[in-house]
Amino acid sequence: MTDKIRTALVTGASRGIGRAIAVGLAKRGYDLAINDIERQKDVLASVAAEIEALGRRALAIFADVSNKGEVEAMAKTIAATFGHLDAVVNNAGILIAGDVDGLKEEYWDSVMDVNAKGTFLVIQSVLPMMKARKYGRIVNIASIGGKHGAPSQAHYSASKAAVMGFTRVLAQEVGVDGITANCVCPGIILTDMGRVNLDDPTVKKSWQDKTAMRRIGDPEDVIGAVAFFASDDAAFVTGQTLNVDGGIVFS
Ligand SMILES: NC(=O)c1ccc[n+]([C@@H]2O[C@H](COP(=O)([O-])OP(=O)(O)OC[C@H]3O[C@@H](n4cnc5c(N)ncnc54)[C@H](O)[C@@H]3O)[C@@H](O)[C@H]2O)c1
Repeated sequence: MTDKIRTALVTGASRGIGRAIAVGLAKRGYDLAINDIERQKDVLASVAAEIEALGRRALAIFADVSNKGEVEAMAKTIAATFGHLDAVVNNAGILIAGDVDGLKEEYWDSVMDVNAKGTFLVIQSVLPMMKARKYGRIVNIASIGGKHGAPSQAHYSASKAAVMGFTRVLAQEVGVDGITANCVCPGIILTDMGRVNLDDPTVKKSWQDKTAMRRIGDPEDVIGAVAFFASDDAAFVTGQTLNVDGGIVFS
């Protein structure tokens, strides 16, 4: 692969699953570009400090992943700072709950823009860097919600199903350039977003009961699958989706 220090970009890295993945990759020896929206400035700075305390480089970049101009500027900053990018983890995502019959069009658009279009834009912006070296690892954070879903989350489910379909075709296009693309589908994970499903103790208990491992996931539970897809152990694995849900969805 490369004799250089490995580098990765994690979007939506200021908290929750993205933060855990960024720190987890730093512990595995990566230098990190960590992205979030400007509103998360202070918390993103604390993630950068945590990564630097591990002896790795951290480059904090503010960009709304649904904004093409900001995403392209982010890719340029990464190229100028690290010179190359081994892996990208498209983790930034939003969930706005609402039943279909009353769902506002703007909620549909926002969820699709960040979760689906954001994934596409970030990948498009870093592909030239990866293709130039004939090497890349793309890991897209989808969701079991994109396979199974839950009431009030039809638009979220659609956005995550879009990410999985996109990834399967992307894998077919970029394999020739030594680039793999895979999805990780977290289950119910205790984060700010996860609390949407967990605030009500009865609902929380019912998710625990539905989970083979009988517990709610922690952000750290997601790291191993992402690190695997980002590594050379997964050099011959592409276009796949892996559920990390403690046993809720079995396909
Ligand atoms: N928590 C769960 O139960 C769960 C389950 C399945 C999948 N996921 C997925 O995992 C990913 C991370 O979720 P989480 O639970 O850590 O959520 P979270 O809300 O705690 O964190 C999401 C992060 O993305 C950032 N973000 C939002 N919009 C952005 C944008 N336009 N540009 C850049 N950054 C943006 C947020 O500021 C935040 O830091 C999401 O893609 C989510 O859909 C979460």
